[in-house]
Amino acid sequence: MKFLIEGKRRLCGQIDVQGSKNSVLPILAATLLIKGKSVIHNCPRISDVDAAVNILSDFGCVIERSLNTVTVDASSVSNCHVSEFLMHRMRSSILFLGPVLSRFKKAEFSSPGGCEIGLRPIDLHLSSLKLLGAEVCEKSGTVFCSAENGLKANRIHLSFPSVGATENILLASVLAKGTTVLSNAAREPEITDLANFLNKAGARIIGAGESTVIIVGAQKLHSVEHTVIPDRIVASTYMFCAAVTGGEIEINKCVPTHLEAVFPVLEEAGCVIKRKNDSVFLKAPERLSRIKTVRTMPYPGFPTDLQSPVTALLSVADGTSVVTENIFENRYKYISELNRLGANIRVEGRTAIIDGVDSLAGANVRATDLRGGFALVIAALSAQGKTQISNIFHIDRGYEKPEKVLSSLGANIKRIT
Ligand code: UD1
Repeated sequence: MKFLIEGKRRLCGQIDVQGSKNSVLPILAATLLIKGKSVIHNCPRISDVDAAVNILSDFGCVIERSLNTVTVDASSVSNCHVSEFLMHRMRSSILFLGPVLSRFKKAEFSSPGGCEIGLRPIDLHLSSLKLLGAEVCEKSGTVFCSAENGLKANRIHLSFPSVGATENILLASVLAKGTTVLSNAAREPEITDLANFLNKAGARIIGAGESTVIIVGAQKLHSVEHTVIPDRIVASTYMFCAAVTGGEIEINKCVPTHLEAVFPVLEEAGCVIKRKNDSVFLKAPERLSRIKTVRTMPYPGFPTDLQSPVTALLSVADGTSVVTENIFENRYKYISELNRLGANIRVEGRTAIIDGVDSLAGANVRATDLRGGFALVIAALSAQGKTQISNIFHIDRGYEKPEKVLSSLGANIKRIT
C-alpha cells in the first residue's frame, strides 16, 4: 500500500480527532485484570488496536467490536501464553507483562529488542516488577517472570519517567497486597486516562498525572465502561498539515490543555491559534517562519512523537531552525527521505539543523516508522507535484483513515496498491 499525494493544496475545514492510541493500548492490556466486561468507547480503528485485540483473544478473552467501541470480557481467561508472533507485531505488547503477571502469577515474554526509533530497553519495567516481588530471569531473548505468592506493594523510584514502565507499574500494583508509592512517574495524559479507567473498575490510584503516584492495592476489579481521551499527537499533526499548506483548521473533540507545548511552537512559526473548551482553531500565514529551537521532553514538554512532524513543517519555513531529540537516541531515520523531497536538513548527534527551503518537490519516498511516516505526508502536502509514500503500514498503526480526513480538508491524497 502507498499514498499518492499531489501537494500545494491549501487545507481548510473542520475535523474530529480520533481516540488516543497511547491511551487505548494500556487500557486494553488492563482489561485482562478485570473478571467482567470492559466497554471501551472512542477506540481508534488503527492496526495497533487490532494487534492488541488479537492478543486479548489469544488469551481467551471474548471480544465484541462495533464502530469505535470494543468490549472485552476477560472473566474466564485461563491461557497465560500468547503467540510470539502476535506479541512481536506490536512493541507495546510489553504492557501486557504487568497484567499477565498479576493475573496468572507468571509471564513469559520475548524481549522486544531494538526497533526503528532506537533500542528501547525494558530494564525499568523489569527492575520495577522485581521490586513488586517478581522473580525475573532472561534466557536467550526470553524474559521469565514469576510471583508465586502474588505481587506485593513497594516504594519504586524511576530513574527516568518512562511512560511504559509507569503504566506497567500501575497495572502490576493495582491488585498487589499493600500500598505502592511510585516516584518520578511519567505524567502524560495517557497515564491519567489509564488510572481513570482502573479507578472506575474499583482500583485506588491517587495522583496519576503527577510525579508521585500512590496505588492502594484492591481485592478485585469489576466491570467498567470508559471513553478514551482524544489523541493529542494526531490532533497536533493535523494542525501541522494545515499549517504547512497555509491553511485554516478547526480541530474538534480535542483537549486543548494537552496541546499546550505545541501552541507556542506554531505561534512562533506565525500561526494564529484560538483555544475553546474542546476545540482549537488554527490559521496559518502564507509562509511559516523558522523556530529557533524545539527540544523534545517528557510531558508537559514538547512530545518526541511530534519531533518528525515539526521537522517536516520547518523544512519549508523561512530561515534556519534547530530541533533536539532528548527521548530516543535514533529517531532521525526519516530525514534522508525528507531530503529526497528537497529538504535541507543535517543531523549532528541528537540535533537536526533545518535550513528552510522555498518549496519541496514530489518524489518517491518510504515511511520508516509511524511518526516519521506521517512527517512525509506533511512534507508531501506542501510539495510541488506528486509524492508516493510506500510502507504506509507504519502510518496505519496510529492514524485512522488519514486519506479520508485529509481529503475532507481539500487534500489530493489516494491510497493505492
Ligand atoms: C511511549 C509511547 C510513545 C512515545 C514515548 C515517549 C505508547 C504506546 N508509546 O513509548 O509513542 O514516543 O512513550 O513519550 O504509549 N527506556 C529505558 N528503559 C526502559 C523503558 C524506557 O531506557 O525500561 C528509555 C527508552 O529507550 C526511551 C525513553 O526511556 O529512550 C522513553 O521511553 P518510554 O517513555 O518508556 O516510551 P514508551 O513507553 O516505549
